[in-house]
Amino acid sequence: MSSDQYFEEHPDVGSDPVTVDVTLPDVAFTMTTDRGVFSRGHLDTATSMLLRADLPLAPTGDLLDLGCGAGPIAITMALRSPAATVWAVDVNERARALTRRNAERNGITNIQVAAPDDVPADVRFATIWSNPPIRIGKDALHTLLSTWLARLHGQGTAALVVQKHLGADSLQRWLGEHGHHTRRHSSKAGFRLLTIEPLMPTPHTPAHGIEPHH
Ligand SMILES: C[S@@+](CC[C@H](N)C(=O)[O-])C[C@H]1O[C@@H](n2cnc3c(N)ncnc32)[C@H](O)[C@@H]1O
Repeated sequence: MSSDQYFEEHPDVGSDPVTVDVTLPDVAFTMTTDRGVFSRGHLDTATSMLLRADLPLAPTGDLLDLGCGAGPIAITMALRSPAATVWAVDVNERARALTRRNAERNGITNIQVAAPDDVPADVRFATIWSNPPIRIGKDALHTLLSTWLARLHGQGTAALVVQKHLGADSLQRWLGEHGHHTRRHSSKAGFRLLTIEPLMPTPHTPAHGIEPHH
């Protein structure tokens, strides 16, 4: 079987690397991209939207780029939060190799590249950013997001960028129904940037439906 799906564990297409310069308002870096890995030859439009948005990013602790591809999100997080540890996770081994190489070529030492099962079970994330692999299918995506969002710290935040026509609005609804306080941060050119925030503690709120007796 041969295919060019970017989320394969072991892409069997030949390697043909292309270098991409990424320039954001606050950071710039160069990355190698390749066949068999998402977004060869350019910074993806959705990823660019996420990286240009005004989003909270923890300065310390463990941060996660879920589905790192060639690593542009992990690298940006690592440059913006040099005292944090950024976990760059992907099922695709070629993607992991590229992210490792791209961290090295930019002199970045606070990125841990890992296959999903290799992230120690006790690690909890202060920030999760992802351009998630929508094309793995709805059920697999829901399982993936449930698994990793459950590992956010109590006060941690997440940001997901999703194409509207690939189901951003139903994903937002699904996240809400599953206990994640999700809002649409912004919307541009067919993309939605969804943010997940901690639920506000409500220790003093009386139980719903109970009226005081007079
Ligand atoms: C849309 S791409 C984003 C890549 C990169 N973050 C970027 O913005 O250019 C999604 C990535 O998720 C990866 N992926 C697919 N299934 C995954 C899984 N179960 N766990 C982790 N990563 C996965 C894919 O291999 C792919 O690299």
